[in-house]
Amino acid sequence: MKNIAVIGAGTMGNGIAHVFAQNNFKVNLIDISEETLTKGIATITKNLDRLLAKDRITEDVKNKTLQNITTFTSILEGIKNTDLVIEAATENVDLKLKIFKQIDSEAPKDAILATNTSSISITKIAAVTNRPEKVIGMHFMNPVPIMKLVEIIRGYSTSDEVTANIMDLSKKLGKVPVEVNDYPGFVANRILMPMINEAIETLYNGVAGVYEIDTVLKLGMAHPMGPLQLADFIGLDVCLFILNVMYDGFKNPKYAPCPLLINMVQAGKLGVKSGEGFYDYSKHKKAEKVASQFV
Ligand SMILES: NC(=O)c1ccc[n+]([C@@H]2O[C@H](COP(=O)([O-])OP(=O)(O)OC[C@H]3O[C@@H](n4cnc5c(N)ncnc54)[C@H](O)[C@@H]3O)[C@@H](O)[C@H]2O)c1
Repeated sequence: MKNIAVIGAGTMGNGIAHVFAQNNFKVNLIDISEETLTKGIATITKNLDRLLAKDRITEDVKNKTLQNITTFTSILEGIKNTDLVIEAATENVDLKLKIFKQIDSEAPKDAILATNTSSISITKIAAVTNRPEKVIGMHFMNPVPIMKLVEIIRGYSTSDEVTANIMDLSKKLGKVPVEVNDYPGFVANRILMPMINEAIETLYNGVAGVYEIDTVLKLGMAHPMGPLQLADFIGLDVCLFILNVMYDGFKNPKYAPCPLLINMVQAGKLGVKSGEGFYDYSKHKKAEKVASQFV
């Protein structure tokens, strides 16, 4: 594999493009928004500058990485001659199904189609294509250039060959791939989200305050940040969405989102991105600055 297309240049897409480009792949970075593409390249440049300042890469690597990325606003143009398409567009089922129908009909017949979805069924996405054996989940973690894990999710029909290919490819990026099967929440969110939900329930029940709950997990279990702070960082709307996917998928009340989480989302308290969640970020000029101290 040499030519990769990444659909979506937001938080995850630009990170995925960065990692592939730095490892000498040719990357077509695609987004419907020209502004997001410009911002995405600016973010990649800033992250490369940071690595350069720390002597982790040379000026030459920085330049080659940037040269390896071409931007497109058209999916059709961007997926021509690609070996692998990684979809990292907005988390919306209808949008993803539409994108997969399009890339299935227009990408080279041998190309593998991957999705970075956090919660949508790979099997459902694969079912709208004529190549379900070549559809797979590649769940990168945020921030992509730093986090080692890639959760590789096999849909119901994903072939052994495609899975082995994607596992190998992830290793070539310096990542640690882990193979899992396609059930709601996969592994990462199936374990993480109930923990976050339980932390919110503990707060809701008045057992302890925000600081106390996070400190117990941070200092008692050596977590790098408490579950409430992590929820703020992920986005409370995203946590609610994923919990609902698991609640609907398993029909098990243990995944029911805490009423406090639902209320906070309805009140627009979404965490770092809205300036307030379990913590108040409004005093900081940029939410991004607050988030960066956690990663
Ligand atoms: N943010 C995270 O921490 C995280 C972690 C793991 C996985 N994910 C998953 O990664 C995916 C992307 O998330 P994100 O946080 O980067 O979202 P984001 O909102 O930052 O970026 C999504 C991008 O997709 C673009 N887009 C929308 N429709 C498009 C289309 N038809 N064609 C091309 N581009 C289109 C948008 O313009 C936007 O720039 C989601 O599936 C999400 O669940 C996110």
